[in-house]
Amino acid sequence: MMTKPAETRLPVLHWRTTPRSGDTRSVRKLIQASGVFSPEEIDVAEELVRERLDKGTASGYEFVFAETGESLAGSACYGRVPLTRASYDLDWIAVGPNQQRRGVGQQLLARVEDDLRARGGGNLYVETSSRPSYEAARRFYASAGYRECARFPDFYAPGDAKVVFLKRFP
Ligand SMILES: CC(C)(COP(=O)(O)OP(=O)(O)OC[C@H]1O[C@@H](n2cnc3c(N)ncnc32)[C@H](O)[C@@H]1OP(=O)(O)O)[C@@H](O)C(=O)NCCC(=O)NCCS
Repeated sequence: MMTKPAETRLPVLHWRTTPRSGDTRSVRKLIQASGVFSPEEIDVAEELVRERLDKGTASGYEFVFAETGESLAGSACYGRVPLTRASYDLDWIAVGPNQQRRGVGQQLLARVEDDLRARGGGNLYVETSSRPSYEAARRFYASAGYRECARFPDFYAPGDAKVVFLKRFP
């Protein structure tokens, strides 16, 4: 029987949804290392963890953490958009550079989606950029069944559109 080369095999992951105090640092490190986020976005990602630690679920931010041993392999943050019945934003998702393309992102997203279904379904929106550095992210969402539903030209900067993907969970 053929086996996959070691580096392509899915690592053993431990899953967690409740943030701990050390996550502010580990999320900053992860988001930074993933290589596409701006310093401002890195600050915001860390701030969302802090807000959740301070306010609990009342913060409106939910998390999924995938760990290998002591280190964070990937993480996702999402939450219901205020004033909507069941529309959710995926605020960010990131997988460490050494763990990418091994199915970690797909599993993170599947866990977010399972939670949405458990809450009765809804719409999951993902905002990304049209920049070439987000090509992998756009392919990743498309491969998971997300469809582009809106595009805002020059949103982030001239020539850099906001691209919104949507998947519905009936
Ligand atoms: C986008 C990201 C979360 C994907 O996580 P991942 O664990 O590497 O993705 P997976 O291994 O689960 O990939 C699932 C599928 O998505 C697609 N995909 C993922 N990365 C891709 C890439 N670099 N190029 C083309 N397709 C890609 C493929 O179809 C892949 O399936 P395959 O490997 O069987 O072909 C990860 O690349 C990342 O952290 N990027 C930097 C941060 C980022 O861009 N976040 C999103 C901001 S909007």
